[in-house]
Amino acid sequence: MSYTIAITGKGGTGKTTIAALLVANLIRRGRRPVLAVDADPNSCLDSALGVRAENTVGRLREDARHTAAANPMISKRELLELKIAESLVEGDDFDLIAMGRPEGPGCYCYANNVLRDVLSQISASYPFVVLDNEAGLENLSRRLVTRVDLLLIAGDTSRNGTETVRRVLGLSREMGIKAEKLGIIINRVRGGRELGLADLKSSTGAEYLIRLPFDDEVLEYNEAGRSFMLLPEDNPVNLALGAFVDEVLKGQ
Ligand SMILES: Nc1ncnc2c1ncn2[C@@H]1O[C@H](COP(=O)(O)OP(=O)(O)OP(=O)(O)O)[C@@H](O)[C@H]1O
Ligand SMILES: [Mg+2]
Repeated sequence: MSYTIAITGKGGTGKTTIAALLVANLIRRGRRPVLAVDADPNSCLDSALGVRAENTVGRLREDARHTAAANPMISKRELLELKIAESLVEGDDFDLIAMGRPEGPGCYCYANNVLRDVLSQISASYPFVVLDNEAGLENLSRRLVTRVDLLLIAGDTSRNGTETVRRVLGLSREMGIKAEKLGIIINRVRGGRELGLADLKSSTGAEYLIRLPFDDEVLEYNEAGRSFMLLPEDNPVNLALGAFVDEVLKGQ
């Protein structure tokens, strides 16, 4: 059985960075291979992990449509399943599957449904699945996964940052997303600021409340397009996420 961690939250709160660093920390603790799922059409989890996803599901869907039209003997579904399985990008100790943006006309729901089935089949071979979502719960709402073991909501220290976390949580509950456990990550905390977040944890029922410091090195890695797999282990954000991963593994 794989353990699925989904990261969500408002735009720009660090979801992709956190996803990549979680993958790195899981691997470091021998929990490999990890399946990373880039469920954000605009995202770049691939470069955050130091690989390149050419064949996104969005593109494959269009390919499969053309091939199936030319070959009536092949079912469109079989073809799409095959193509999605082939599209896995293999990294060291992890594989990545990327949604990409829908190409071509027509509804994306079909490809989404096929992807969901393929994901549930292949994820069985991975001890951990880490899902990076687009802001606004779009993919969670498309039921790419029906339940997750750990839902992480990323927020920031801005005045309405914690309110946004609550809103995202409310939305996820309205959508019927089943999460065994909830974690709230407050990212880019500057200095030793006391954020008065104890209430956030108790009022949301979150199991984990994680503060990640603002860190120039993380920002530089992002700006340079460098893989977060190479971020030094003793980087403060890496250390904080590593300690969090240890806690999650303990509670498993
Ligand atoms: N702890 C941190 N310290 C400094 N900068 C950070 C930190 N975490 C993330 N960032 C920076 O914040 C920016 C947004 O991060 P990221 O792309 O991971 O967010 P996101 O939530 O995935 O965004 P989107 O909603 O666009 O997908 C990036 O420039 C990233 O380098
Ligand atoms: Mg992102």
